[in-house]
Amino acid sequence: MAEVTLDLRHAPKDRAYAQLHAHIIGVLSGIDDDIAGMATISALLHHAFGHLWTGFYRVVQPNLLRVGPYQGTLGCLEITLGKGVCGTAAAERRTIIVPDVSRFPGHIACDARSRSEIVVPVFDRDERLIAVLDIDSERVAAFDDEDAYALGRIMRWFAGEGRG
Ligand code: SME
Repeated sequence: MAEVTLDLRHAPKDRAYAQLHAHIIGVLSGIDDDIAGMATISALLHHAFGHLWTGFYRVVQPNLLRVGPYQGTLGCLEITLGKGVCGTAAAERRTIIVPDVSRFPGHIACDARSRSEIVVPVFDRDERLIAVLDIDSERVAAFDDEDAYALGRIMRWFAGEGRG
């Protein structure tokens, strides 16, 4: 098992994500446990990129997300589908990139330092939504399509067809 927590803050994004994805596969292969997976992915993503908050909100009722494993300051405990960035991404089953959270109506500010955010839906093998991955940054416009693509791939490996 690879045992280091990578710091990829100075690498180009494509190389950073390629390395991180390979690392995640190395660490989590054979681990069929969603909580262990979410905790490990949160830790690796958070420290690799130096994000402000990195973690999961799990679908616990058809209309409700509850916080799962994360890294960062205290996250809000529950989010109704359709509320905030997480609830909107969950309700619409799509990735949402928010370059400036002050311009997203209904953004839920768990940490006042947050300036931009990306939320990626997580689907199981039957295309059921099981969670969303939420990442916050202290920088405006920290996330773009490259993040959406790479994080989507990691989530498919984790919860979809990837792990087989
Ligand atoms: N900003 C999120 C809420 C979760 S916290 O930032 C950890 C949202 O608007 O859904």
